[in-house]
Amino acid sequence: MAPATQLERCVTGIEGLDNILSGGIPLGNMVLIAGSVGTGKTTLCLEFLVRGAERGERSLFLSVTEASDKLIQNLSTFEFFRPELVTNGSLVFVDLPVLYERLGLEHEELSEDEIGILIRTIRDLVRQLGVKRLVLDSLTSVGYRIRRDERIRDFMLRLGLELSDAGCTSLLVSEIGPTQGRYSLHGVEEAIVDGVVLLWNARRQGDILRVLQIIKMRGTSHSQAQYVIELTPIGLLLAPHLKGGQMEGQ
Ligand SMILES: Nc1ncnc2c1ncn2[C@@H]1O[C@H](COP(=O)(O)OP(=O)(O)OP(=O)(O)O)[C@@H](O)[C@H]1O
Ligand SMILES: [Mg+2]
Repeated sequence: MAPATQLERCVTGIEGLDNILSGGIPLGNMVLIAGSVGTGKTTLCLEFLVRGAERGERSLFLSVTEASDKLIQNLSTFEFFRPELVTNGSLVFVDLPVLYERLGLEHEELSEDEIGILIRTIRDLVRQLGVKRLVLDSLTSVGYRIRRDERIRDFMLRLGLELSDAGCTSLLVSEIGPTQGRYSLHGVEEAIVDGVVLLWNARRQGDILRVLQIIKMRGTSHSQAQYVIELTPIGLLLAPHLKGGQMEGQ
């Protein structure tokens, strides 16, 4: 029997993450980055895009929750960031509220037609710019405007198809409560995506540790262990989460 074909990978460039993903995220996968406030979701996504842009993979950050100029300002405190990546168009920031306004999507609850317009606009951006890495920060904010489960399901399935057709690997940020017991706003998102990476704050003997775990990743074997993460000026570092002492929930 012929050996199973190796899937192509999107090498995240975050060394610890690539190691536990057996080399990277399978190309074209759509991955949920789920976590409560301040767990490092945005920082992880930004590093993913910067590392991609460095490798010549055009990267797009679709921001809802924070203005692009603030994100770029924050990025400049990291050693791995070079402002030229933004000025030469390798790393592109788009503020979704500005896009909504331009597209005339002003209803609080997006209609089916408006959802279609949003998907086509993102698809066109990805195709025209040749985007290989995309971040949506956050899917939750978009989800508040797509209120029905069946519509969020449809939005994600269609967006996922468009992105994987374009060979674009994506991270969708999901804001969840600290003890929510699910990974997304509607609860259907985690079934549709190819991968789920969970981030949470764990308390140990008075300290707060940031912890990361890969819940699922279609198309690859991966570690299922918990890792303590540190957000350092040289990027995100991962170390095995050694149990012991007093642990409190997510
Ligand atoms: N430039 C930086 N230098 C040092 N630490 C930083 C920097 N940016 C962020 N952090 C640390 O990372 C933490 C998490 O930031 P981040 O914005 O990535 O979390 P988040 O999960 O996206 O939060 P939110 O849910 O509010 O969007 C911050 O609270 C801070 O402690
Ligand atoms: Mg954030």
